[in-house]
Order: sequence, then structure tokens, then C-alpha cells
Amino acid sequence: MQRTADWWREAIVYQVYPRSYADANGDGIGDIPGIRTRIPYLKELGVDAIWLSPHYPSPMLDAGYDVADYRNVWPTFGTLDDIENLITDVHAAGMRMLIDIVPNHTSWDHPWFREALAYPLDNDSSVPAKTRFAEGPWAKYHLLRGQDGGKSVPNNWDSVFGGPTWHEVMDHEGNPSGWWYLHIFDKSQPDLDWDNNEVRAEFRGHLRFWFDRGIDGFRIDVAHGLAKADGYPDCPVLEEGHATAQNPYWDQDGLHDVWREWRGVADEYEPARVFVAEAWVQPAERNARYLRADELHTGFNFPYLRAPWNATKMREIIDFTLAANKLEDAPTTWVLENHDVWRAATRYAPIVGRTEKTSTVSGDMDLGGEFDWKAERDLETGSARARSNFLSMLALPGTAYIYQGQELGLDEVFEIPSDMRQDPAFITTNGVRVGRDGCRVPIPWNNESDSLGFNSTGASWLPQPDSWKKLAVSVQDVDENSMLTLARNALHLRKTLAALGGITQDVAPLIWDNDSLDGVLSFVRPGRLGGSAIRCALNLGAHAVTLPYGGDVVLASDALAFSDGILNPNSSVWLTA
Ligand code: GLC
Ligand code: CA
Repeated sequence: MQRTADWWREAIVYQVYPRSYADANGDGIGDIPGIRTRIPYLKELGVDAIWLSPHYPSPMLDAGYDVADYRNVWPTFGTLDDIENLITDVHAAGMRMLIDIVPNHTSWDHPWFREALAYPLDNDSSVPAKTRFAEGPWAKYHLLRGQDGGKSVPNNWDSVFGGPTWHEVMDHEGNPSGWWYLHIFDKSQPDLDWDNNEVRAEFRGHLRFWFDRGIDGFRIDVAHGLAKADGYPDCPVLEEGHATAQNPYWDQDGLHDVWREWRGVADEYEPARVFVAEAWVQPAERNARYLRADELHTGFNFPYLRAPWNATKMREIIDFTLAANKLEDAPTTWVLENHDVWRAATRYAPIVGRTEKTSTVSGDMDLGGEFDWKAERDLETGSARARSNFLSMLALPGTAYIYQGQELGLDEVFEIPSDMRQDPAFITTNGVRVGRDGCRVPIPWNNESDSLGFNSTGASWLPQPDSWKKLAVSVQDVDENSMLTLARNALHLRKTLAALGGITQDVAPLIWDNDSLDGVLSFVRPGRLGGSAIRCALNLGAHAVTLPYGGDVVLASDALAFSDGILNPNSSVWLTA
């Protein structure tokens, strides 16, 4: 039962997006010294670990998920010393620190890719590029394929950000060379060849480089990528973003070898380091394969994030998750927001004048912009739902992820001028897809300065809406009904109430209430260690419902959520049970 002590089985992990957290030098872009000034805030909030989105040198064509050097820091964010100081401060505050790693692709500025393209182009121009590309060592790290010497491509694969996944290399005279490189994401993000042992060895070195600097683990970007089906067959169903084993570039069996190797590296350390997989894989049983005992420790639960506002669907997803993870004795995780999806308050906000379809709660990067982002939304309802589901998430067994600003109830920002937008999904589709900039707007720390306390100069790489003044930390801090106060209370209670501890306890992790209460999700976390049990009820229906349970209120999603046994719509409550 040693495993029950593993911190990552029941932690609160807070995602910091460095570009938008806090800006110490006032250039309008967040930085590592800025993050260090907010450690007391994070400690007071009650988080156990921080996950930092990419901090690496990068041309920033996909916000740093295009890495040019895996062993350094983007100068605008700071230096290696700065990040070492951050790690030290985080540890001194009793928290852990995870960083991002991006193994599926590099930036096109990575030296390997620069060499790959430069070698043939710099050579004797009297030899046609077609011939030169066919003979040389340059293409070995990335997936560069040609119609002559390489296997014949392109095929019909679509890139995640729009357009084809193959980009044709031009020769030095600007003519098509007949050679193509693969990029599942932006064309500035060429995919690596994971069949090459040198690629594997290099990445094991990257892991050790950061483990040696004291980080506690990695969040693995696109952990369902890496391996591609032999022969690059056409994609049978072009369903963008729907990762299934039938899709020749997602969730291929071959990639699990890599995770076994990485686990070996993490286990060399004392205490062992951990991984969290970003894998958009269905069904849940296939997703659980990433969590086998000799692979990755945890993974994000995206079906839960994408669950519609519907009690039956949400319960189904929670059940599938618990069952699938149990197969591998892996902890469950829960997530409602990150830097790739619309803020929950907006996602859950009904469109004014339209009958709600419970089948879709969208707004994430996979939905191809079909989503109506210009529509008027009922944000008040959206915020109430985001709050109440946040409380419900924190009652579930396992680890929960919080994205910066979620604790403030921030909504998605759409009022961003096109020329300030940075997301390649917006740029590649000429704005057909609104992209993800709206969930990456700098945090409002106070309601006074021009940049709402993001820095002292008023500069900000994306504009913050005026409506955020009332959501600023300094305002919510002193309001006992604010989302921030709710978040702090919930996080602290989650630690102190025995019933809300980990999944590996001897009692059942969660017992559903089976009364058929219209639209209500309701479950009990049994008490352990002599503590009392806790019931959580979330009303996803359209009507107030009388709960037949009794019990004292431990916490409610807002002041009007629950009284006299009645739970209002879009509200949740924790009760003693
Ligand atoms: C992941 C990241 C996303 C990035 C993509 C390509 O999905 O979360 O932000 O654009 O990978 O690296
Ligand atoms: Ca800065």
C-alpha cells in the first residue's frame, strides 16, 4: 500500500501559463520572475503543485509549443537561473513543480530541422534538389519524405490547425523540391521520427536535464502522437481531432514503448518523478493503456471537460473514467479548463434566444470554428454553472487540475483585434476559427492599473476586458461570496475533510445516490479515518429540486444555491452525510 502515499494520486494541480500570469519587467509579457511573486497567492489558494506551460526558447508560432531548444528558457520569460529559483521557491512553499515537454514535434527553428533543410539547399545547385534530398543524412530526425527517394506521400491527413499535414520544401531557387515534411500541427512544428533511436536518447537526456534541476515531473504534450502507422495510409474518416486508433497518426500501439522508456528514467530518481499525459484518446479503455503500471502515472480526463451540461451524460463519463482507471490502478483526474479550450463560464453559457441542445458544450480547439462565437450568451447562467461544476469536480476522487483564472471565474474574451491574435488556428484559417487566444488573456490582479495589476506599466500582449475589473483578485479577495473565496474554501476543505481524500482508500471512492432526481448529479464520498461522509449534489436541470437527504451544509456554490433542502438549478452543495 506504499502507493497510497503518492502525492499525485490526490493533488490539486494549478496550470500557470507563463505569458499571461504576472509580468515583472513590464514589457507586457508575463515572465518567470513574475510567477515567483505570486507563490504566496498560490499557497493561500491551496494548490499542491504547479504545472508550467512551455518556457523554452521558441519562435512562439504556437505559444511555445514549438520548441527550438529543450534545455533552456525563452529569454523574454527569463533565464535558467530564474527557473531554478522558481523551482526552489515552489519547493520552499511546500508545493511541487511540473513543466511541459513537447516530444511530438520541434519548432522549425530547432537545429535538427534547420540542418535538415539547409544541407541539401546549401549543396551544389547544379544537382537538382530532387536528387539531393534523396541522398543524405539530413532527414533522419524529422519525417521528411519525398516522391523519389522516400516513401511516396503526401496523403490525405489534415493538420489540427487546418490545411494539410504535409508541407513541401522549396529548393534554394524557390522551386518545389518534391520533398515534404510532416506537421500534424502548424507548419512551423515538424513532427519528429520516433523510430530513430537518436531521437529517443536525446529526449531521455532532456528529461534528466530537468529532473536534475529538481522538477517533480512533466506534462507530456500530445502524448497520443509520436508514432505513425506504417506506410502512412490515408485517414479513413477525416474527423478532425477525434483521436481513435483508426486514425493513422493518433494513438498508435508503437508509442507505448516510448512511455515505458520514460517511466524507466523517472524511476531512476528518488523520489520518483511523475508524468501526466495529454492524450485525447477514446474510448476510456484505450486511454487507460497510457496509465499502465510501467507507463505514465496520470492523464488528463478530456471527456469530462467536454461533457455536456447534462446529469446523465456527466455521470456516464465519471463512471467510465472510474472503471477504466481502476483497470490499471491509476488515479482518476478531472479537468474543466486549460489553455486550449474556452473558459467554462462561456462554454456553459446558453445562447440567448436559442433552445439549449444538451448534446454540445463546445468551444474547444477541435471543433473547427463551427461554433457560433459571435452569438449573445447568458453569462450569468454560464458563471453559475462554472462555479457549481467546479465545486462538484473538487468532490470527485483523484487529482483535479485548475487553469489560472478559473478560480476567478474568468470568461472567454472575444474582443481581441485580429492583428493581436497569435493562435495559429486563427491565422491558418484566416479567422474562420476564432482560436484559443481568448482563454490566454493576462490575469486581472487588481482593478486599478491599465493592465489590471498584470504589471506596473499597463502594457499587455492581449487586451483585458473592462468587465474583468470586478473579477480582479483584489476585489474577490474581500468578498465572501466571490468565486475566489469559494475556491479557497473548497480547496482547504478538500484537504481537511477525510472523506474527500484519495481513491486508494479501502472504502468505495464514490457511491451514487440512486433516487431519480430530475437533472441532479448526486454522490456520496464515504468517510474514512473516522471522518464523516460527504455528499455532493449538482443541479444540471432547469428546475429547483428538493433533496431528500438532510445533512448540514459544508459548502455551497453560492449564497442562493441551497436552502430549506432545495437545490436551485446551476447550483451545487456539499452536505454532511
Ligand atoms: C497541445 C497543446 C496545444 C498545442 C498543441 C501542439 O495540444 O496543449 O496548446 O497547440 O499541443 O503542440
Ligand atoms: Ca515580462
